[in-house]
Amino acid sequence: MILSRRFVLVTATAAALALGASACGSDSGSPAPPQPAALEGVGPISLVTGKDTSGNLQNQVDEWNSAHPDQKVTVIELPEDADAQRQQMVQNAQTRSDAYGVLNLDVVWTAEFAANQWVVPLPEADFPLDKLLPATVETGKYFKRLYAVPITSDGGLLYYRKDLLDAAGLKAPTTWSQLAEACAKVLPTAAGVSCYAGQFEKYEGLTVNFSEAVNSAGGSVVGEDGKPTLDTDAARKGLQFLVDGVKSGLIPQKARTFKEEEGRRAFQAGELLFHRQWPYQYAKASATDGSSAVAGKFAVAPLPGLDGPGASSLGGHNYAVSAFTKNKKTAVDFIKYSASEEQQRKNLEKTSQAPTWSALYDEADLVTKFPYLTQLKKSIEGATKRPGVVKYQEVSRAIQEAAYGAMSGDTPVDDALKSLQGKLEALTK
Ligand code: GLC
Repeated sequence: MILSRRFVLVTATAAALALGASACGSDSGSPAPPQPAALEGVGPISLVTGKDTSGNLQNQVDEWNSAHPDQKVTVIELPEDADAQRQQMVQNAQTRSDAYGVLNLDVVWTAEFAANQWVVPLPEADFPLDKLLPATVETGKYFKRLYAVPITSDGGLLYYRKDLLDAAGLKAPTTWSQLAEACAKVLPTAAGVSCYAGQFEKYEGLTVNFSEAVNSAGGSVVGEDGKPTLDTDAARKGLQFLVDGVKSGLIPQKARTFKEEEGRRAFQAGELLFHRQWPYQYAKASATDGSSAVAGKFAVAPLPGLDGPGASSLGGHNYAVSAFTKNKKTAVDFIKYSASEEQQRKNLEKTSQAPTWSALYDEADLVTKFPYLTQLKKSIEGATKRPGVVKYQEVSRAIQEAAYGAMSGDTPVDDALKSLQGKLEALTK
């Protein structure tokens, strides 16, 4: 009885997946593809992840390993660049290799990995999903089934040099024009400091920053119906902010090569007045061991926008179980351990990364230590999702090309958005 019910469920899901996997050629009447094995198998596994810029992952894994000597987890670190991480995970999955056990997936990769059946559906009841921020749980689902469990979330914040703004009698800007005014006032007497940077290298970070600029001007990349909405005034104003920033020197040329870490190093060296960055920078820039020139001198605020506070893109990472790993039970247990309140608290305390465990955002002692938590929770709850499509990588690449070309001065804003609209229409129809 139980077996046959499960079979029906699994078959129905496989049909739904086939439909979602490609716009043409899918045939829900064809035999269901082989189903992932049951979540069994206990023994060593690997955890494959982007470069651990937080520096705490190995501690978490060591703690697990000492309690589970027969189920050791080995960390495999991939590059820092999100696109390069995805490429290696995809290549590995395409060869059906069992080298990767638990996959640390960016929130934007769930659809692609689930539709291709590179990761297995997970039993919701095994995880404390009702304790996690709902927006983060949604990112781990595809066709309403759970494929990945939120481990860290991410929301964009405006880091700013509070010492320099205070000295000039200024508050954190809530609009782009206030940001420019603050730079005009502060920079002439602040040698070696540039105005503003974000993640402007041509990779996923630029997709995030472009989307935030569009959202913060009142626009959107895709509408509620999933259709692109980039041939609009609001989108033009958003991209124009970035283009004008480069042209006027508000955004230094160097920032066009920044991913997260290059920007963080510049902010920590005291070279930026404003920096759009994820929460992990808070702990690093606060270090008092001499590695940060701005410890105690900065604060964070919501991202600014065209007419008032802007809107962040929803970032973050979820753990999924590779369809090709043998030790799936260990993989599930390790995910439970990583998602637990205890591990999320420790990780927040050590790294300032955004937890997915909702209650941690409201704990008085944590809010004292990380004053941005209250605002970060709101930012995550109100953040805009990047498109949840199987062909996400192609969508993102088209965005990166359009934004990079416009910011280089090669393509007028209007042309860049018109052509991007066309490309996204083709990719999302
Ligand atoms: C962060 C975010 C992730 C995003 C990436 C872009 O790692 O958590 O969602 O795609 O930055 O660089």
